[in-house]
Amino acid sequence: MNELLKEIKFLEDLPDQVLIIDKFKSIGYANKAAKNHFGSSIVNQNISSIVRDPSLLSQIDDSLENNKSGILDIEIKKPNFQFFKVSVMPGPSNLLEDSNSVIIFFKDLTDIIKVQKLKSDFVANVSHELRTPLQSIKLGLETINNGHAAKDLESQKKILPVVLQQTSRMENIVNDLLSLSRIELQEHIRPNEKVNLNDIISHSIELHQEILKKNNIECQFERESKNVKINGDRNRLIEVFNNLIDNGIKYSEKNKKITITTKSENKNFLVTIKDQGIGISKENIPQVTERFFRVDPAKSKEVGGTGLGLAIVKHIVNQHRAEMTISSEINKGTEISLNFPTI
Ligand SMILES: Nc1ncnc2c1ncn2[C@@H]1O[C@H](COP(=O)(O)OP(=O)(O)OP(=O)(O)O)[C@@H](O)[C@H]1O
Ligand SMILES: [Mg+2]
Repeated sequence: MNELLKEIKFLEDLPDQVLIIDKFKSIGYANKAAKNHFGSSIVNQNISSIVRDPSLLSQIDDSLENNKSGILDIEIKKPNFQFFKVSVMPGPSNLLEDSNSVIIFFKDLTDIIKVQKLKSDFVANVSHELRTPLQSIKLGLETINNGHAAKDLESQKKILPVVLQQTSRMENIVNDLLSLSRIELQEHIRPNEKVNLNDIISHSIELHQEILKKNNIECQFERESKNVKINGDRNRLIEVFNNLIDNGIKYSEKNKKITITTKSENKNFLVTIKDQGIGISKENIPQVTERFFRVDPAKSKEVGGTGLGLAIVKHIVNQHRAEMTISSEINKGTEISLNFPTI
Protein backbone atom coordinates (compact mmCIF):
# COMPACT_ATOMS: atom_id res chain seq x y z
CA MET A 1 0.00 0.00 0.00
CA ASN A 2 1.43 3.39 -0.84
CA GLU A 3 1.98 6.30 1.55
CA LEU A 4 -1.13 8.23 0.54
CA LEU A 5 -3.33 5.23 1.24
CA LYS A 6 -1.80 4.92 4.70
CA GLU A 7 -2.67 8.59 5.25
CA ILE A 8 -6.34 8.03 4.50
CA LYS A 9 -6.74 5.45 7.23
CA PHE A 10 -10.30 6.65 7.95
CA LEU A 11 -11.40 4.71 4.87
CA GLU A 12 -10.56 1.54 6.70
CA ASP A 13 -13.20 2.00 9.40
CA LEU A 14 -15.88 3.51 7.20
CA PRO A 15 -19.12 1.46 7.39
CA ASP A 16 -19.55 1.80 3.60
CA GLN A 17 -17.59 -0.40 1.23
CA VAL A 18 -14.74 1.34 -0.57
CA LEU A 19 -12.71 -0.09 -3.45
CA ILE A 20 -9.87 1.56 -5.33
CA ILE A 21 -9.04 0.07 -8.71
CA ASP A 22 -6.19 0.66 -11.14
CA LYS A 23 -6.26 1.26 -14.88
CA PHE A 24 -6.46 -2.49 -15.55
CA LYS A 25 -9.57 -2.54 -13.31
CA SER A 26 -7.77 -4.66 -10.80
CA ILE A 27 -8.66 -3.96 -7.15
CA GLY A 28 -5.68 -2.24 -5.51
CA TYR A 29 -7.39 -1.48 -2.22
CA ALA A 30 -10.50 -2.68 -0.37
CA ASN A 31 -11.45 -1.35 3.06
CA LYS A 32 -12.62 -3.60 5.92
CA ALA A 33 -16.32 -3.24 5.04
CA ALA A 34 -15.60 -4.17 1.40
CA LYS A 35 -13.59 -7.25 2.42
CA ASN A 36 -16.39 -8.30 4.79
CA HIS A 37 -18.96 -7.91 2.08
CA PHE A 38 -17.21 -9.11 -1.09
CA GLY A 39 -14.74 -11.54 0.48
CA SER A 40 -11.35 -11.14 2.11
CA SER A 41 -9.36 -12.08 -1.01
CA ILE A 42 -10.69 -9.49 -3.42
CA VAL A 43 -7.49 -7.41 -3.60
CA ASN A 44 -5.78 -7.94 -6.98
CA GLN A 45 -8.93 -9.44 -8.47
CA ASN A 46 -10.58 -7.79 -11.44
CA ILE A 47 -13.60 -5.63 -10.55
CA SER A 48 -15.76 -7.46 -13.12
CA SER A 49 -15.49 -10.65 -11.08
CA ILE A 50 -17.00 -8.82 -8.08
CA VAL A 51 -19.70 -6.68 -9.70
CA ARG A 52 -21.28 -7.61 -12.99
CA ASP A 53 -23.62 -4.69 -13.36
CA PRO A 54 -23.00 -3.28 -16.90
CA SER A 55 -23.88 0.32 -15.97
CA LEU A 56 -21.35 0.27 -13.14
CA LEU A 57 -18.65 -1.22 -15.35
CA SER A 58 -19.23 1.39 -18.03
CA GLN A 59 -19.16 4.16 -15.42
CA ILE A 60 -15.78 2.83 -14.26
CA ASP A 61 -14.54 2.98 -17.88
CA ASP A 62 -15.79 6.54 -18.14
CA SER A 63 -13.97 7.51 -14.94
CA LEU A 64 -10.73 5.88 -16.06
CA GLU A 65 -10.76 7.21 -19.61
CA ASN A 66 -12.47 10.60 -19.26
CA ASN A 67 -11.87 11.47 -15.63
CA LYS A 68 -15.62 11.63 -15.00
CA SER A 69 -17.52 10.93 -11.76
CA GLY A 70 -20.96 9.37 -11.52
CA ILE A 71 -23.52 8.11 -9.02
CA LEU A 72 -25.74 5.13 -9.80
CA ASP A 73 -28.25 2.79 -8.21
CA ILE A 74 -27.37 -0.87 -8.32
CA GLU A 75 -29.94 -3.54 -7.54
CA ILE A 76 -28.83 -7.12 -7.02
CA LYS A 77 -31.69 -9.63 -6.99
CA LYS A 78 -29.93 -12.91 -6.35
CA PRO A 79 -29.09 -14.72 -4.13
CA ASN A 80 -30.43 -12.03 -1.79
CA PHE A 81 -31.98 -8.70 -2.58
CA GLN A 82 -29.41 -5.88 -2.20
CA PHE A 83 -29.53 -2.24 -3.14
CA PHE A 84 -26.56 0.14 -3.30
CA LYS A 85 -26.05 3.75 -4.19
CA VAL A 86 -22.61 3.68 -5.80
CA SER A 87 -20.35 6.67 -6.31
CA VAL A 88 -17.57 6.23 -8.85
CA MET A 89 -14.89 8.90 -9.06
CA PRO A 90 -11.41 9.24 -10.49
CA GLY A 91 -8.82 8.99 -7.70
CA PRO A 92 -5.92 11.40 -7.10
CA SER A 93 -3.10 10.63 -9.56
CA ASN A 94 -0.67 9.37 -6.90
CA LEU A 95 -3.10 7.07 -5.09
CA LEU A 96 -1.93 3.78 -6.58
CA GLU A 97 1.52 2.97 -7.99
CA ASP A 98 0.09 3.34 -11.40
CA SER A 99 -1.16 6.85 -12.06
CA ASN A 100 -4.80 6.14 -13.04
CA SER A 101 -7.20 4.98 -10.36
CA VAL A 102 -10.88 4.99 -9.62
CA ILE A 103 -12.47 5.12 -6.17
CA ILE A 104 -15.79 3.30 -5.74
CA PHE A 105 -18.01 3.98 -2.68
CA PHE A 106 -20.88 1.59 -2.06
CA LYS A 107 -23.66 2.93 0.17
CA ASP A 108 -25.75 -0.03 1.26
CA LEU A 109 -29.44 1.00 1.21
CA THR A 110 -30.83 -2.56 1.28
CA ASP A 111 -32.56 -2.21 4.68
CA ILE A 112 -34.14 1.15 3.82
CA ILE A 113 -35.46 -0.11 0.47
CA LYS A 114 -36.81 -3.26 2.15
CA VAL A 115 -38.73 -1.18 4.71
CA GLN A 116 -40.11 1.02 1.91
CA LYS A 117 -41.26 -2.06 0.04
CA LEU A 118 -42.86 -3.48 3.17
CA LYS A 119 -44.74 -0.21 3.64
CA SER A 120 -46.06 -0.07 0.10
CA ASP A 121 -47.01 -3.77 0.18
CA PHE A 122 -48.83 -3.07 3.42
CA VAL A 123 -50.81 -0.16 1.96
CA ALA A 124 -51.71 -2.31 -1.06
CA ASN A 125 -52.87 -5.13 1.24
CA VAL A 126 -54.94 -2.83 3.45
CA SER A 127 -56.60 -1.21 0.43
CA HIS A 128 -57.40 -4.59 -1.02
CA GLU A 129 -58.81 -5.95 2.25
CA LEU A 130 -61.02 -2.89 2.75
CA ARG A 131 -62.16 -2.66 -0.85
CA THR A 132 -63.80 -6.08 -0.89
CA PRO A 133 -66.36 -5.41 1.89
CA LEU A 134 -66.76 -1.83 0.68
CA GLN A 135 -67.75 -3.01 -2.80
CA SER A 136 -70.34 -5.32 -1.36
CA ILE A 137 -71.77 -2.54 0.86
CA LYS A 138 -71.95 -0.20 -2.13
CA LEU A 139 -73.68 -2.80 -4.27
CA GLY A 140 -76.22 -3.53 -1.52
CA LEU A 141 -77.01 0.13 -0.97
CA GLU A 142 -77.32 0.81 -4.71
CA THR A 143 -79.79 -2.05 -5.03
CA ILE A 144 -81.88 -0.58 -2.23
CA ASN A 145 -81.50 2.99 -3.46
CA ASN A 146 -82.38 2.65 -7.14
CA GLY A 147 -82.08 -1.03 -8.03
CA HIS A 148 -84.58 -3.88 -7.98
CA ALA A 149 -85.04 -3.58 -4.20
CA ALA A 150 -85.96 0.11 -4.29
CA LYS A 151 -89.64 -0.58 -3.71
CA ASP A 152 -89.41 -4.12 -2.38
CA LEU A 153 -89.34 -4.24 1.40
CA GLU A 154 -88.72 -8.01 1.48
CA SER A 155 -85.58 -7.72 -0.68
CA GLN A 156 -84.38 -4.79 1.41
CA LYS A 157 -84.70 -6.93 4.54
CA LYS A 158 -82.49 -9.54 2.91
CA ILE A 159 -79.83 -7.08 1.73
CA LEU A 160 -79.47 -5.01 4.90
CA PRO A 161 -78.00 -7.77 7.13
CA VAL A 162 -75.30 -8.37 4.49
CA VAL A 163 -74.51 -4.66 4.42
CA LEU A 164 -74.32 -4.63 8.23
CA GLN A 165 -72.12 -7.73 8.30
CA GLN A 166 -69.67 -6.22 5.79
CA THR A 167 -69.65 -2.96 7.75
CA SER A 168 -68.65 -4.91 10.88
CA ARG A 169 -65.94 -6.64 8.89
CA MET A 170 -64.50 -3.30 7.84
CA GLU A 171 -64.73 -2.06 11.42
CA ASN A 172 -62.85 -5.14 12.67
CA ILE A 173 -60.08 -4.68 10.13
CA VAL A 174 -59.66 -1.01 11.05
CA ASN A 175 -59.68 -1.83 14.79
CA ASP A 176 -57.09 -4.58 14.30
CA LEU A 177 -54.88 -2.26 12.26
CA LEU A 178 -55.09 0.45 14.90
CA SER A 179 -54.31 -2.08 17.59
CA LEU A 180 -51.32 -3.35 15.59
CA SER A 181 -49.88 0.09 14.99
CA ARG A 182 -50.32 1.10 18.66
CA ILE A 183 -48.52 -2.04 19.81
CA GLU A 184 -45.75 -1.57 17.27
CA LEU A 185 -45.14 1.96 18.53
CA GLN A 186 -44.93 0.74 22.12
CA GLU A 187 -43.13 -2.53 21.52
CA HIS A 188 -39.96 -1.24 23.17
CA ILE A 189 -41.80 -0.20 26.35
CA ARG A 190 -41.90 -3.16 28.69
CA PRO A 191 -45.17 -3.42 30.63
CA ASN A 192 -44.79 -3.15 34.42
CA GLU A 193 -48.18 -4.16 35.78
CA LYS A 194 -47.88 -7.34 37.87
CA VAL A 195 -50.31 -9.84 36.43
CA ASN A 196 -51.31 -13.44 36.98
CA LEU A 197 -51.43 -15.25 33.63
CA ASN A 198 -53.63 -18.06 34.98
CA ASP A 199 -56.36 -15.54 35.79
CA ILE A 200 -56.01 -13.87 32.40
CA ILE A 201 -56.30 -17.20 30.57
CA SER A 202 -59.36 -18.21 32.65
CA HIS A 203 -60.97 -14.90 31.77
CA SER A 204 -60.23 -15.38 28.07
CA ILE A 205 -61.67 -18.92 28.11
CA GLU A 206 -64.77 -17.53 29.86
CA LEU A 207 -65.24 -15.02 27.03
CA HIS A 208 -65.32 -17.92 24.54
CA GLN A 209 -67.78 -20.15 26.41
CA GLU A 210 -70.64 -19.52 24.04
CA ILE A 211 -68.74 -20.16 20.81
CA LEU A 212 -67.01 -23.20 22.35
CA LYS A 213 -70.40 -24.64 23.23
CA LYS A 214 -71.78 -23.83 19.79
CA ASN A 215 -68.93 -25.75 18.14
CA ASN A 216 -68.99 -28.47 20.78
CA ILE A 217 -65.29 -27.89 21.47
CA GLU A 218 -64.02 -28.60 24.93
CA CYS A 219 -61.41 -26.21 26.29
CA GLN A 220 -59.41 -27.88 29.01
CA PHE A 221 -57.24 -25.71 31.23
CA GLU A 222 -54.48 -27.49 33.14
CA ARG A 223 -53.26 -24.64 35.26
CA GLU A 224 -50.30 -24.63 37.51
CA SER A 225 -51.31 -24.17 41.12
CA LYS A 226 -48.54 -21.72 42.09
CA ASN A 227 -49.46 -18.08 42.02
CA VAL A 228 -46.77 -16.90 39.60
CA LYS A 229 -46.75 -13.28 38.45
CA ILE A 230 -45.20 -11.68 35.43
CA ASN A 231 -44.73 -8.08 34.31
CA GLY A 232 -47.48 -7.64 31.80
CA ASP A 233 -50.24 -5.61 30.29
CA ARG A 234 -53.50 -7.32 31.25
CA ASN A 235 -55.64 -6.09 28.34
CA ARG A 236 -53.03 -6.92 25.74
CA LEU A 237 -52.49 -10.38 27.20
CA ILE A 238 -56.23 -10.99 27.05
CA GLU A 239 -55.97 -10.03 23.37
CA VAL A 240 -53.21 -12.66 22.92
CA PHE A 241 -55.25 -15.51 24.41
CA ASN A 242 -58.44 -14.37 22.70
CA ASN A 243 -56.68 -14.60 19.35
CA LEU A 244 -55.10 -17.98 20.07
CA ILE A 245 -58.30 -19.55 21.40
CA ASP A 246 -60.22 -18.00 18.51
CA ASN A 247 -57.81 -19.64 16.04
CA GLY A 248 -58.03 -22.95 17.91
CA ILE A 249 -61.79 -22.90 17.42
CA LYS A 250 -61.84 -21.53 13.85
CA TYR A 251 -59.30 -23.99 12.49
CA SER A 252 -60.73 -27.11 14.15
CA GLU A 253 -63.65 -29.30 13.25
CA LYS A 254 -66.54 -29.55 15.68
CA ASN A 255 -66.24 -31.94 18.66
CA LYS A 256 -62.50 -31.40 19.11
CA LYS A 257 -60.53 -30.29 22.13
CA ILE A 258 -58.28 -27.36 22.98
CA THR A 259 -55.85 -27.89 25.83
CA ILE A 260 -54.17 -24.99 27.59
CA THR A 261 -51.38 -25.78 30.00
CA THR A 262 -49.37 -23.49 32.26
CA LYS A 263 -46.27 -24.27 34.28
CA SER A 264 -43.36 -22.39 35.76
CA GLU A 265 -39.85 -23.43 34.86
CA ASN A 266 -36.79 -21.76 36.41
CA LYS A 267 -37.39 -18.07 35.85
CA ASN A 268 -40.00 -18.56 33.15
CA PHE A 269 -43.70 -19.11 32.90
CA LEU A 270 -44.67 -21.44 30.08
CA VAL A 271 -48.09 -21.46 28.41
CA THR A 272 -49.06 -23.91 25.68
CA ILE A 273 -52.23 -23.84 23.64
CA LYS A 274 -52.84 -27.04 21.76
CA ASP A 275 -55.63 -27.83 19.35
CA GLN A 276 -56.67 -30.86 17.30
CA GLY A 277 -57.43 -28.81 14.21
CA ILE A 278 -56.43 -28.71 10.56
CA GLY A 279 -52.79 -27.87 11.35
CA ILE A 280 -50.30 -25.71 9.44
CA SER A 281 -47.71 -27.07 7.01
CA LYS A 282 -44.01 -26.65 7.84
CA GLU A 283 -43.39 -24.09 5.09
CA ASN A 284 -46.34 -21.95 6.19
CA ILE A 285 -45.43 -21.82 9.88
CA PRO A 286 -42.95 -18.91 9.57
CA GLN A 287 -45.51 -16.94 7.52
CA VAL A 288 -48.55 -17.13 9.79
CA THR A 289 -47.39 -14.22 11.95
CA GLU A 290 -47.09 -11.94 8.90
CA ARG A 291 -49.84 -9.38 8.48
CA PHE A 292 -52.69 -10.50 6.23
CA PHE A 293 -51.20 -13.94 5.67
CA ARG A 294 -53.77 -16.74 5.56
CA VAL A 295 -52.95 -20.29 4.59
CA ASP A 296 -56.28 -20.73 2.86
CA PRO A 297 -58.04 -17.43 2.07
CA ALA A 298 -61.26 -19.28 1.12
CA LYS A 299 -61.37 -21.01 4.51
CA SER A 300 -60.63 -17.68 6.22
CA LYS A 301 -63.48 -16.08 4.34
CA GLU A 302 -65.79 -18.80 5.58
CA VAL A 303 -64.68 -18.54 9.22
CA GLY A 304 -64.07 -14.80 9.11
CA GLY A 305 -60.39 -13.97 9.30
CA THR A 306 -58.26 -11.07 8.16
CA GLY A 307 -54.87 -12.55 8.94
CA LEU A 308 -53.99 -9.91 11.52
CA GLY A 309 -54.54 -11.95 14.70
CA LEU A 310 -51.16 -13.66 14.95
CA ALA A 311 -49.31 -10.50 13.81
CA ILE A 312 -50.88 -8.73 16.81
CA VAL A 313 -50.01 -11.68 19.07
CA LYS A 314 -46.38 -11.63 17.91
CA HIS A 315 -45.94 -7.94 18.70
CA ILE A 316 -47.56 -8.25 22.15
CA VAL A 317 -45.37 -11.27 22.90
CA ASN A 318 -42.28 -9.28 21.84
CA GLN A 319 -43.34 -6.37 24.00
CA HIS A 320 -43.44 -8.76 26.96
CA ARG A 321 -39.94 -10.05 26.06
CA ALA A 322 -41.53 -13.47 25.75
CA GLU A 323 -40.87 -16.12 23.11
CA MET A 324 -43.41 -17.78 20.88
CA THR A 325 -42.91 -21.10 19.12
CA ILE A 326 -45.37 -22.73 16.77
CA SER A 327 -45.31 -26.43 16.02
CA SER A 328 -47.93 -28.06 13.92
CA GLU A 329 -48.83 -31.04 11.82
CA ILE A 330 -51.40 -31.11 9.04
CA ASN A 331 -54.67 -32.72 10.18
CA LYS A 332 -53.25 -33.42 13.63
CA GLY A 333 -53.26 -29.99 15.22
CA THR A 334 -51.23 -27.00 16.28
CA GLU A 335 -49.36 -26.21 19.46
CA ILE A 336 -48.33 -22.67 20.33
CA SER A 337 -45.95 -22.17 23.25
CA LEU A 338 -45.35 -18.87 24.95
CA ASN A 339 -42.44 -18.50 27.30
CA PHE A 340 -42.71 -15.46 29.60
CA PRO A 341 -39.97 -14.23 31.93
CA THR A 342 -41.29 -14.11 35.51
CA ILE A 343 -40.63 -11.37 38.06
N1 LIG B 1 -54.53 -22.99 15.32
C1 LIG B 1 -54.43 -22.94 13.99
N2 LIG B 1 -54.60 -24.05 13.23
C2 LIG B 1 -54.46 -24.02 11.89
N3 LIG B 1 -54.18 -22.90 11.18
C3 LIG B 1 -53.99 -21.76 11.88
C4 LIG B 1 -54.10 -21.71 13.30
N4 LIG B 1 -53.84 -20.45 13.71
C5 LIG B 1 -53.60 -19.74 12.59
N5 LIG B 1 -53.68 -20.51 11.49
C6 LIG B 1 -53.44 -20.11 10.09
O1 LIG B 1 -52.70 -18.90 10.12
C7 LIG B 1 -53.42 -17.85 9.46
C8 LIG B 1 -53.15 -16.54 10.18
O2 LIG B 1 -53.75 -16.54 11.45
P1 LIG B 1 -54.26 -15.18 12.08
O3 LIG B 1 -54.83 -15.47 13.43
O4 LIG B 1 -53.16 -14.20 11.99
O5 LIG B 1 -55.37 -14.69 11.06
P2 LIG B 1 -56.88 -15.14 10.87
O6 LIG B 1 -57.30 -16.07 11.96
O7 LIG B 1 -57.04 -15.60 9.46
O8 LIG B 1 -57.65 -13.75 11.01
P3 LIG B 1 -57.88 -12.86 12.30
O9 LIG B 1 -57.14 -13.51 13.44
O10 LIG B 1 -57.34 -11.54 11.93
O11 LIG B 1 -59.34 -12.87 12.50
C9 LIG B 1 -54.86 -18.29 9.48
O12 LIG B 1 -55.57 -17.72 8.40
C10 LIG B 1 -54.73 -19.80 9.33
O13 LIG B 1 -54.54 -20.13 7.99
MG1 LIG C 1 -56.86 -15.47 14.00
